[in-house]
Amino acid sequence: MQAWVIGNWKQNPATTNEVNELIDSLLSAIDERSNDLNPDICQLMVAPTAIHLAAVSARLQQTPLLCAAQDISAHSGTTGAYTGDCSAQQMADAGASWTLLGHSERRQYHQESADELLQKLTHAQAQQLGVIFCIGETQAQYDAKQTLEVLNEQLAVIKELLTQQPKLVKTIAERLIIAYEPVWAIGTGKVPTVSEVSATHEHIKQTVASFADELPEITVLYGGSVNTDNADSFAASPMIDGALVGGASLKAESFLTIASAFSRAKA
Ligand code: 13P
Repeated sequence: MQAWVIGNWKQNPATTNEVNELIDSLLSAIDERSNDLNPDICQLMVAPTAIHLAAVSARLQQTPLLCAAQDISAHSGTTGAYTGDCSAQQMADAGASWTLLGHSERRQYHQESADELLQKLTHAQAQQLGVIFCIGETQAQYDAKQTLEVLNEQLAVIKELLTQQPKLVKTIAERLIIAYEPVWAIGTGKVPTVSEVSATHEHIKQTVASFADELPEITVLYGGSVNTDNADSFAASPMIDGALVGGASLKAESFLTIASAFSRAKA
């Protein structure tokens, strides 16, 4: 199964100049590491802000890096009177081939509901955008051993999408990645053990497989304080198909060291 290493830039970098510097260093480091990085084994992708998406995707044409949006509007997949929103169609037109959805920061700061996420998934599907669907439990839920219960509830949106579009089950599954990101591991330097993550990923794969007949095995990435020191150990697990990287994706060197770890381990 192909590995994926995806950089979620969140609300970074601050300026267009800094975005260009990051792209420059990514492209030159990719060149230098051409023996180490094999896009057939490990696909690379970055998710810039909506304001930087068109410029970044233009610069990434003919490179091994794909471009994703960080979010799309729930209200309309195309156009409409929704001030401040960008639609799936607009993100695709700006050069995104994928979008993150349901990141815990969106759930926390924008109170994203299951209904809204279902709308977004439907719009992404209609505009042929692949979806990296983020799920994860809070520290309190982890401490109360509610992780799997919480993940099941968050994954129910995917079940609903597949139920609503039975003819598109295969197409949806082919363009769907689940990113397991424990909220307590994001930006904290705290990580679950590799065996905990592996068991959780196995549960996610089995759960999604139970949603419809003949679903291909779903790709499941781990996210939350992935760095150059722990990437090898996550990459060694057959249950961990890649990483969704925040802070460490803002430096070409650390992002590509993580990508090399997955390229090597999955070769
Ligand atoms: P960090 O890698 O900074 O912990 O962020 C993870 C994340 O939220 C990626 O979506």
